[in-house]
Amino acid sequence: MRVALLNLIGLLLLTGCQTKQAVVPESQQQAWWKEAIVYQIYPRSFQDSNGDGVGDLQGIIDRLDYIESLGINAIWLNPIYPSPNADNGYDVSDYRGIAPEFGDMETFDRLLDELHKRGIKLIMDVVVNHSSDEHPWFIASRSDVNSPYRDYYHWWPASKGTPPYRYSLFDAKGDAWKYDSITDAYYLHYFADKQPDLNWENPALRQEVYDLMKFWAQKGVDGFRLDAFQFAAKDTTFPELPQGYEKNFIQYYAMQPGLHDYLKEMNQQVFAPYGVVSVAEGAGRSFEEAHELVDADRQELQMAYAFDGVDVAKYDGYSLATLKKVFTDWDRSFAEKGWLSIFLSNHDQARLVSRYGNDTPEHRVASIKLLNTFLLTMRGTPYVYYGDELGMTNIGMDRIEEYQDVAAVNGYAKAKFMGEDLDQHMKILAKTSRENGRTPMQWTADAMAGFTEGNPWMKINPNTAFINVQDQVADPSSPLNHFKSLTQLRKKNPVLVYGAYELLAEDHPQVYAYTRTLGEVSCLVVLNFSDQTARWAPIGLSLGAQPWINSADQLTREGKELILAPYQSVVIPLN
Ligand code: GLC
Ligand code: CA
Repeated sequence: MRVALLNLIGLLLLTGCQTKQAVVPESQQQAWWKEAIVYQIYPRSFQDSNGDGVGDLQGIIDRLDYIESLGINAIWLNPIYPSPNADNGYDVSDYRGIAPEFGDMETFDRLLDELHKRGIKLIMDVVVNHSSDEHPWFIASRSDVNSPYRDYYHWWPASKGTPPYRYSLFDAKGDAWKYDSITDAYYLHYFADKQPDLNWENPALRQEVYDLMKFWAQKGVDGFRLDAFQFAAKDTTFPELPQGYEKNFIQYYAMQPGLHDYLKEMNQQVFAPYGVVSVAEGAGRSFEEAHELVDADRQELQMAYAFDGVDVAKYDGYSLATLKKVFTDWDRSFAEKGWLSIFLSNHDQARLVSRYGNDTPEHRVASIKLLNTFLLTMRGTPYVYYGDELGMTNIGMDRIEEYQDVAAVNGYAKAKFMGEDLDQHMKILAKTSRENGRTPMQWTADAMAGFTEGNPWMKINPNTAFINVQDQVADPSSPLNHFKSLTQLRKKNPVLVYGAYELLAEDHPQVYAYTRTLGEVSCLVVLNFSDQTARWAPIGLSLGAQPWINSADQLTREGKELILAPYQSVVIPLN
């Protein structure tokens, strides 16, 4: 028999003097992954434990006290499998192993165990739109047209002529077909040529994938992030695409027929029986398609993440109005059903404070606090990228020789091939390259940042001299300590997880303001997204006495107006 229809959660307001009950209605279907704050770790850059200059699993274990102190409750680990590293682990050559530079299976098991002891879940990256060309499946596939592995990939025999054009995101010529002389055929690669696409139409391949996922699920991992999965289904007759749309990657390459069947099958074989959570990179081409991926009654995925938010910032900046609109529209279309992911950075983006904030000495601290306040007060599961709790910035490398990332290196080659302005290309790259987001974690002020005692695989940002964990732990007003207050606030206040979101001050050019409301509990979030003082009157709202959280020392009010310092952010209870 059902004991209670409503789930009552005692809620202690941080003001200390009021106690209110926030009610999470049953329709909200509480779940750990909705309440999670996910911290993304790029293992290569987090902590090196053996002096080879490459971050590793033992390094993560050594930093577990820090990770726990953040108040996050799940981590997403970028790929840690053996890989030739054409794309830093997104080209897997053994799905059941650990890359030797990251450690071994015993270390992985220990990491998982230690995380679980601390109440932290682990989400693994699963890269199965493609494998490495050095995976045994591909080696067998390319060597013999009669191999049982031939149909694990997409081949176009040269005897049929040149294959219909397909675009590749990472290819130096933008061509997704690569000719292979061994069997006189072309294979398909939407990413780099060392990342051949797997053929999901083949049931044998699908079973292999479910089995490898079961292997990790049996170890006890809590979730999977499906890399580039919206591209997995393909029309294997490879028709010509309409003129002008050959490169329209999302429209013509994502969400093709078959994808939902694969996800349902994966759910039946892996997610449901093992109770693991799934989040896909990419959320379709419309709100409807996003719902078709994640609505609970469809039994496919739990979460997906759309690129709209992270795509708002361009090389030359972004418009606050667009940012508000994108996040508000997504929230609206998920108000009744489904669940969102909230993020503004990851390993495929430049640094958060440099893209969406202001990384000048004057505004860096306030603006990263503002961005973290935004991420941790929105409805949806926040994904926070390592280093953004400190406000790590872009490194901005200006010579192509300094770049290692396949996207940057081949992107440059393509720009050259197309006859583009290479100086301009380099300017854009320095600001937008994803390598900006991959520099080693800044633990200390030392030249090696406390990251390694060896030669780091990637340049350390010299500003580790003044942006680092050690200093920020000791400074009560640092971004790090502000971040920790935010995670505590979110965990104590279900209104910040489940509460309805309502946009206010829609047309204000500087301020992004919204309320979150759950039953009787309501709070107001006010964010001054500009480098100027901002004034805004929250008309009709009765503000609580003290902010729950404030990025500045005080909150100035003049009559009905709030006077916000540049990049000031506050969360204020409403009574
Ligand atoms: C995803 C990953 C990215 C990778 C690509 C190919 O977009 O996030 O890092 O390069 O897929 O696997
Ligand atoms: Ca190492």
